Amino acid sequence: KQFTGSLVFVTHDRRFLRALATRIVEIDRGVLTDWPGDYDNYLRRREERLQAEAQANALFDKKLAQEELWIRQGIKARRTRNEGRVRALKALRNERAQRRILTGNARMALSHTQSSGKKVIELSRVHQAFDGRVLIDHFSTTIMRGDRIGIIGPNGAGKSTLLKIMLGELQPLGGEVKRGSSLQIAYFDQHRLQLNDRLNALDNVAEGREFIELNGQRKHIIGYLQDFLFTPERARISITLLSGGERNRLLLAKLFAKPSNLLVMDEPTNDLDVETLELLEDLLGSYAGTLLLVSHDREFLDNVITSTLVLEGHGHIGEYVGGYADWLRQRKLTSATGHRSRSSPAKKIPSNSAKPDVPSPPRKLGYHQARELQELPARIETLETELAERTQHMANPAFFRQNSAAIVIANDALTKVQNELELAYRRWEELES
Ligand SMILES: Nc1ncnc2c1ncn2[C@@H]1O[C@H](COP(=O)(O)OP(=O)(O)OP(=O)(O)O)[C@@H](O)[C@H]1O
Ligand SMILES: [Mg+2]
Repeated sequence: KQFTGSLVFVTHDRRFLRALATRIVEIDRGVLTDWPGDYDNYLRRREERLQAEAQANALFDKKLAQEELWIRQGIKARRTRNEGRVRALKALRNERAQRRILTGNARMALSHTQSSGKKVIELSRVHQAFDGRVLIDHFSTTIMRGDRIGIIGPNGAGKSTLLKIMLGELQPLGGEVKRGSSLQIAYFDQHRLQLNDRLNALDNVAEGREFIELNGQRKHIIGYLQDFLFTPERARISITLLSGGERNRLLLAKLFAKPSNLLVMDEPTNDLDVETLELLEDLLGSYAGTLLLVSHDREFLDNVITSTLVLEGHGHIGEYVGGYADWLRQRKLTSATGHRSRSSPAKKIPSNSAKPDVPSPPRKLGYHQARELQELPARIETLETELAERTQHMANPAFFRQNSAAIVIANDALTKVQNELELAYRRWEELES
């Protein structure tokens, strides 16, 4: 923004576009269009244009159909055959053939296999450094089945390293890593090393198979690749000729061709166009397994994950509930008091036998206090039910597909119930003792 020269950039990053672009040049089906104004304006205008185009096409098709009918009307028509009209029809046919078809949207599906064990990965006091620089400083955490965790931090912070340690591809210098039972891992590595440059797209994905089994349905490999926008011809060229986004899509095709219950994705969004990105968002939103996701795309993260690991520097890794936006909010709240650990919905509630932090001397209760004590168990029960209902509602994958404002509101409401419940317990303990 401070650069005073002209800036020309290529990106699929929606936030980046929104923040910087004042003019957008689009390539669509071989036609270059120049749109003045920002990204939102472009989206609006493009939608309008597509609609107008669809209408014009529909009109055109109707006219063509009438003319085709006319020329086929046998003797009568042939006798009154009008050479001009025939020429016009030829032109119409030609135009129809030239019409460029919108590059289709990818159709992806993920297949989920039988569930993994409840504990997916357990790290205890994991320590990692390269050349004396500490990336991970005695970090412990447990990843549970169904967790959807985003991992964020600046370049070189150690996100990919952390994933490799979790997956057992890298042995940490210190600490212990335990992986749960019956894990079936699909790993989208940052450098796309799983694609073999000596094989074409087809052979990379097929691995000798002719059919792919997807959620109980058999699909021919060619058809499967077409869902990922590879025509049969493109699927056979050398993958070294593919564009960045095509390569990325191919790795998605390869990974999604195998059932999994732990999906690990290291920057899967790089090079993906907006439509494919949104499709991937939806797909991950309904994925039933456990998800670990590294991404620098804040919007993507916010739409997909439910908690965040942040590599905060000097080997410290913070755990936060919610997506990127939530992390920013929580960081603001806690920056004065230092790091805060994850206050998950399952946060332990003090049991009624636990002693309060500051024991109050035994005393006789007044009328109001006795009454309050009497009412507290019912109140706690109500709050616990509400907490359980809210947690269950939020555990539904559909929940995180709504807009982020709704999620923030629900999160806040949940925190409120948690706080009330904790207060109620504390009060109960106070009055009981
Ligand atoms: N085998 C290795 N030997 C030495 N240094 C390494 C090794 N692997 C990674 N590093 C260094 O560790 C640091 C963290 O690397 P890592 O790939 O985990 O970062 P990252 O957080 O994934 O970054 P990015 O956002 O750029 O992907 C980097 O400075 C990298 O150079
Ligand atoms: Mg990385």
